[in-house]
Amino acid sequence: MTPYTKTEVLLQAKDLQLSYGNKCILHDINFSIRDIIRPGLQQGQVVSLVGRSGMGKTQLFRILSGLQKPTSGSIIIRERKPAEVSPGSIAVFQERAVRPGDMGVIFQNYYQFGWRTVRQSLLLAARRNKLLEGKEEDTMLQYAEQFDVIDILHRYPSQLSGGQQQRVSIIQQLLKGANFLLLDEPFSGLDVCVLDKVVELLQQVSLSDELKTLIIVSHDIATAVAISDTVFILGRTKGVEGSTLVRSIDLIERGLAWQKDVRREREFEETLEEIKACL
Ligand SMILES: Nc1ncnc2c1ncn2[C@@H]1O[C@H](COP(=O)(O)OP(=O)(O)OP(=O)(O)O)[C@@H](O)[C@H]1O
Ligand SMILES: [Mg+2]
Repeated sequence: MTPYTKTEVLLQAKDLQLSYGNKCILHDINFSIRDIIRPGLQQGQVVSLVGRSGMGKTQLFRILSGLQKPTSGSIIIRERKPAEVSPGSIAVFQERAVRPGDMGVIFQNYYQFGWRTVRQSLLLAARRNKLLEGKEEDTMLQYAEQFDVIDILHRYPSQLSGGQQQRVSIIQQLLKGANFLLLDEPFSGLDVCVLDKVVELLQQVSLSDELKTLIIVSHDIATAVAISDTVFILGRTKGVEGSTLVRSIDLIERGLAWQKDVRREREFEETLEEIKACL
């Protein structure tokens, strides 16, 4: 197995509960995401959150993004202090509760500024990132090239296909520079070729910075397992209202993470069966 270590906690969900009135939606949710270190690589983290329809994935997604407050509990993130980021400086970290805007959120079929062209939207995102000062345009063009949207920069969102919109929103969030990227159903509605491309791109993103952390909510268990290092399963426990994390699976320990042809492994199939049994 490839050598790796897990070090600092980058994100911690502590005792999350969510209720609407008397109705409990989520209870006792505790998990953490640690920084993964692999020698010679800038290995980011990829975590998938799976569960049947109505289990509270979108609610948990919203809580993670800081857009929704839980009834109790908190999400703590560890971030690099911006002032300290300069070549050669030692990174300084701080821990704090997540706030709206901390995470790059990529909703399904998402576009924000219908009246701006792709180029304008992307440049706007780049200009908000102080680390890109003076190289906004170059960085934007690099991503556009890499994500194959260079020919559609002059278009408006309504003139894009679903897959193009999705790639544009991923670039937009990357340009903003957030370490955490939350993706809601990033694999749905894509044809097989585009799906492979999106998986490849997300893998590239996860290798672009050691602290990059992708959190993916998906119904597509096979693709989620193929791309992730950890899977969390939201489900029910007998006799208790609401959902909680019923299982977490460390795919690195099973030798299923970071492998190109992982779908051919017997253990991959077994893991899918195991997950389905928990749903
Ligand atoms: N504003 C609300 N008031 C009351 N209940 C709500 C509210 N929003 C969501 N719910 C309930 O919370 C539960 C979880 O919903 P959520 O949208 O998170 O499910 P999900 O796992 O994302 O499902 P899907 O896979 O279908 O998207 C559902 O039972 C839903 O009815
Ligand atoms: Mg949902």
